Amino acid sequence: MASIHRNPKNKHKPRSPFVLLVSSVVLISLFIFYFTSSSSVISSSSRSLTLSPRSVDGKDSLSERYLYWGDRIDCPGKHCDSCEGLGHQESSLRCALEEALYLKRVFVMPSRMCISPIHNKKGILHRSSNGTSEERWAASSCAMDSLYDLDLISETVPVILDNSKTWYKVQSSSMKLGERGAAHVAGVSRADLQRNHFYSNILLINRTASPLSWFMECKDRNNRSAIILPYTFLPTMAARHLREAADKIRRLLGEYDAIHVRRGDKIKTRKDRFGVVRTLHPHLDRDTRPEFIQRRISQWIPPGRTLFIASNERSPGFFSPLATKYKLAYSSNYSIILDSVVKNNYQLFMIERLILFGAKTFVRTFKEDETGLSLTDDPKKNTKMWQIPVYTIDGEES
Ligand SMILES: *[C@@H]1O[C@H](CO)[C@@H](O)[C@H](O)[C@H]1NC(C)=O
Ligand SMILES: *[C@@H]1O[C@H](CO)[C@@H](O)[C@H](O)[C@H]1NC(C)=O
Ligand SMILES: *[C@@H]1O[C@H](CO)[C@@H](O)[C@H](O)[C@H]1NC(C)=O
Ligand SMILES: *[C@@H]1O[C@H](CO)[C@@H](O)[C@H](O)[C@H]1NC(C)=O
Repeated sequence: MASIHRNPKNKHKPRSPFVLLVSSVVLISLFIFYFTSSSSVISSSSRSLTLSPRSVDGKDSLSERYLYWGDRIDCPGKHCDSCEGLGHQESSLRCALEEALYLKRVFVMPSRMCISPIHNKKGILHRSSNGTSEERWAASSCAMDSLYDLDLISETVPVILDNSKTWYKVQSSSMKLGERGAAHVAGVSRADLQRNHFYSNILLINRTASPLSWFMECKDRNNRSAIILPYTFLPTMAARHLREAADKIRRLLGEYDAIHVRRGDKIKTRKDRFGVVRTLHPHLDRDTRPEFIQRRISQWIPPGRTLFIASNERSPGFFSPLATKYKLAYSSNYSIILDSVVKNNYQLFMIERLILFGAKTFVRTFKEDETGLSLTDDPKKNTKMWQIPVYTIDGEES
């Protein structure tokens, strides 16, 4: 896997608008080039061309133009109250950031991220059932800057938080400016926002994104050249304390391989009207059991190696049979590092993800593309087809 740790220096140089413009254009071309030419991770060489985060904090904040999508990811819409998992919300956030990059606007980022209750077993949430929905939401969310390094993100896409002074200033200026202050748009393509002079000169574009999910605004996802930020962008933008914890653990692991084993919610079954058990991923439960994992990964990972396992499987000792072949390590082996850092499961997941990315050989759960290794051949995409789970090696009957 590519390297993910960056040198957080070299920034904060004031630049003229012209240089800003040119460097953004160069930056976008670079992104497109890197995405289409190799796989995914942003090259460090693009860093020196990126925008300065400080330029939006200072007195000249009104020389910038802003893009706002709302104060909660995937809201308004069906995910307002009960949000989705981190990966889903990241896809949405990435879609919004891409639009900001495309329009050369500062993105106004929600200052909190909702934590889905099924993804949080840390028990730090005091969910009161009788509070208002606003109170419940505040109790089940965490500060965005406890997850992401906003300065680091701003090197690529300038962002401010929606609880910052700058944002209050922008809002009051946009009111004073009248017509040129703000445009409230829904269903307008980003190409139109860029081409049409009415929009391009306005201080604040306030988009109401698709109520299904923000990422529906990036429907072009199948068109590779339309993707500006790779999937790895947000994972590598983890907050500094999370990156440091991951670094420490990686150093302790030495050279290691890793598997991500998704069971939990993904192996859930339901009975059809004939009482037959069905699942969306027919081979997943089988392929994520230790015997099958061992059979599958032995072609890529020789015995004796250190194997880091990230999983949502909760049965203690579930993966122990693998210990006959590999030296097993889990994040729980490093609780001395993690306990003071991790306040919720999203933070733990972000650290584990950095450790997974740093492995010599990394095997993910689902087949996601042609080149990546996976534990199962089942696709990740929800096929919406409830099938009978398969447990035998070659038979399709269970
Ligand atoms: C919720 O209910 C409990 C007892 O039923 C009460 O003590 C508490 O004050 C209530 N909280 C709110 C926010 O209404
Ligand atoms: C953005 O637009 C929505 C829908 O039109 C509106 O409810 C909201 O108040 C607007 N927010 C800002 C900051 O202009
Ligand atoms: C793919 O995206 C690129 C860049 O946005 C665009 O120029 C091109 O027309 C798109 N192609 C298709 C088939 O939509
Ligand atoms: C991690 O902890 C397990 C016991 O929970 C132990 O068997 C294993 O050797 C530990 N791994 C490392 C790398 O310390």
